[in-house]
Amino acid sequence: MNPPPDVLEQTLFGARFTSPVLLAAGTCGFGEAIIEVMDLAQLGGLVTKSVTVEPRWGNPAPRVAEFPAGMVNSIGLANPGVEAVRREKLPWIRDHLQDVRVFVSVAGHTPGEYADVVGRLDDLDGFLGFELNLSCPNDSRRGGLPFAFDPDALASVVADVRRITERPLLVKLAPNTPDLGPAVRAAEESGADGLTLVNTLPGLVLDPRTRRAALGAGAGGMSGPALRAVGVHATWRASRLTALPLVGVGGVASGEDAVQYFLAGASLVQIGTASFWDPRSAGRVSDEIRRFARSQGVRSLREWVGTARVGPDAGTEGPAGAAPAASPAPAVQS
Ligand SMILES: Cc1cc2nc3c(=O)[nH]c(=O)nc-3n(C[C@H](O)[C@H](O)[C@H](O)COP(=O)(O)O)c2cc1C
Repeated sequence: MNPPPDVLEQTLFGARFTSPVLLAAGTCGFGEAIIEVMDLAQLGGLVTKSVTVEPRWGNPAPRVAEFPAGMVNSIGLANPGVEAVRREKLPWIRDHLQDVRVFVSVAGHTPGEYADVVGRLDDLDGFLGFELNLSCPNDSRRGGLPFAFDPDALASVVADVRRITERPLLVKLAPNTPDLGPAVRAAEESGADGLTLVNTLPGLVLDPRTRRAALGAGAGGMSGPALRAVGVHATWRASRLTALPLVGVGGVASGEDAVQYFLAGASLVQIGTASFWDPRSAGRVSDEIRRFARSQGVRSLREWVGTARVGPDAGTEGPAGAAPAASPAPAVQS
């Protein structure tokens, strides 16, 4: 008789994930360092650094600055460019990370740049799909807004890429999109297979003595524990708007943090900042989810996904049973 499936296991995007915990874009390069620090069997997958058409050297140092609730970074999408990724990075991933589900993150300033990167990588082996980083500013003709803020631009990126690849396509949204609804609908209608929520929030850390910004570039993207409630909220909002699989990211550092995202509607989570503080955090978080599931009598992640009880009608006692009937999320008020 076959042993019962592990609680962490699930099939999504046509692939088997042995853990719901992935490493987030930009926080593990192209995976080179992880084989030295992690048991790959404990890792659900990873998302590469965002790849652009041309190599980018990135912003002036310092590029990261910590504060008690997280960090800000302004890396400037430093990456070797699509040709080097094609020639060196993806062949290395194919040879060394066979059992790791890899999404290649893609960035650009025009829909054509996204399609160009995807078109130049799609025929290679060794990775599962693409994650479109739509937090980059779009071209100046559209006002330089992040694609995630501009549903028409977002739709045109996703539709262009969708025409080129049949691989799973994740669309990564921004936490400060004024209204998530149009962005979620535009992504879904133009062919996304899943949504990743969220990217970093704009942030500025100042040195009170020198009066200067802690980062060489000035402001940056804020991540870590301070982002968790924002990410869980965005995931929950998105789960009310779409049935697409959701990937939660922002401030995950423990098994119970990950479970908050599952309850909000995510099937997978990603870890970024926490793995700078503890390079083995993805394995530890996987173990913690498994232990917590056992303590709650949960035998499958499905029993958690989307079952959050939110709002005045949710009641306060007892463990959550079935999810409440979907209703539009109320606007947030302070
Ligand atoms: C140093 C650093 C670099 C990042 N680079 C990228 C990137 O290239 N592409 C992207 O989509 N997100 C990037 N992110 C955002 C993360 O993927 C993630 O969305 C964010 O950090 C929130 O997760 P966390 O709180 O677990 O770090 C980066 C984050 C950090 C901290």
